[in-house]
Amino acid sequence: MKAGIIGFGRIGTELYDRLIERGWRVPVIVRSSGVYAPRGDEIRQIDKLSSWLRHIREVDIVGLCIPTLDDGKIAYEYIKPLVKNGIPVVTSEKGALGNYFLKLKVWLDKIGYSATVGGGGRLLDWLIRRLSPWTREVHLIINGTLNFIWDGLDRGRAFDEMVGEAKKLGYAEPGTERALDVINMEACKDLPMKTSVVFNICGFGEIRAKDIKVKEITKDELKKLVRESASRRYIVSIVKEKEDNEDVVGGFKCERNGWYVSAGFKNRYYNPLFRQLVPPGVNNAVLIHGLEGTYATTGPGAGPTPTVMGSMIKDIENISRNEELLRLAENVVTSVRKAL
Ligand SMILES: NC(=O)c1ccc[n+]([C@@H]2O[C@H](COP(=O)([O-])OP(=O)(O)OC[C@H]3O[C@@H](n4cnc5c(N)ncnc54)[C@H](OP(=O)(O)O)[C@@H]3O)[C@@H](O)[C@H]2O)c1
Repeated sequence: MKAGIIGFGRIGTELYDRLIERGWRVPVIVRSSGVYAPRGDEIRQIDKLSSWLRHIREVDIVGLCIPTLDDGKIAYEYIKPLVKNGIPVVTSEKGALGNYFLKLKVWLDKIGYSATVGGGGRLLDWLIRRLSPWTREVHLIINGTLNFIWDGLDRGRAFDEMVGEAKKLGYAEPGTERALDVINMEACKDLPMKTSVVFNICGFGEIRAKDIKVKEITKDELKKLVRESASRRYIVSIVKEKEDNEDVVGGFKCERNGWYVSAGFKNRYYNPLFRQLVPPGVNNAVLIHGLEGTYATTGPGAGPTPTVMGSMIKDIENISRNEELLRLAENVVTSVRKAL
């Protein structure tokens, strides 16, 4: 089997190694500087970026591992021609599904999205299987970086030290230096996109991340959040009953399709269900509550190895199996037609 990789940073290189380990060939790699291909022990440029589609047409599946430097349009413009040409895409980029979901919806069976939310924990799959008409509340911790920082603070570490460590370990989104900007990048860019992916993919309805109005965390609010680190975590809630008096700093609120969405640094002791939700370190978690009971699951929320091994490789294997079954079924239909 042959795979192409678009974006060759932390996730892209990890995906390359894991695919090679499993006996896949990776004949095409697309970077912002052009199209590359392995030649012996080296990876050499073979063409300019504008020719990427011509080269990547020969693969069975594509891993999309680029950052969201815009609203997801660049990723969408990679995904659309691929799926339109029958080439499935497994993506770790969340802007395309957060902002262009309606345009990609028809090709969802050709898109692997597990790595867009929840790192390696496959939280979306778990949630889709668990949701029922009796579900009343869903609560999520889906930003590993913020959970990592606030968990560290709760254990007596210093704020600057935790932000520095999150950046060094590659948990924080690239492109920010000041600690407050790191927090706001996660809270105002990453979280609305992940929330809209959850909402769209799990069938709650449709929200575009760019339509969500987010409150930035101010310097004074950050001081308060650091002081109250033992009780604060960034929690996203999707609930049936509106909650007006929640104790929350920053974040956003919106309403769609009979569901109320609220997010921000919430008081983890405000809702007893939150006690079953909050995971340690960089982990992510989801809790679902309704007439059927309360269920929760957790998993590593970031990091190249869990994201690639726990989510992307599994998506690639699942989609490849389905494509193979589809091909077999098509062959059977063709043979039967010929025989008749
Ligand atoms: N790191 C994690 O733990 C993690 C976990 C889950 C999801 N994700 C998501 O996965 C994606 C990749 O993350 P990462 O950590 O691998 O980021 P990264 O280390 O910054 O790598 C991204 C790579 O994409 C390349 N790139 C940028 N624009 C491109 C374009 N238009 N076409 C082709 N290549 C392009 C960049 O390299 P050049 O410009 O040199 O080509 C860069 O090496 C992000 O969307 C991130 O949010 C990351």
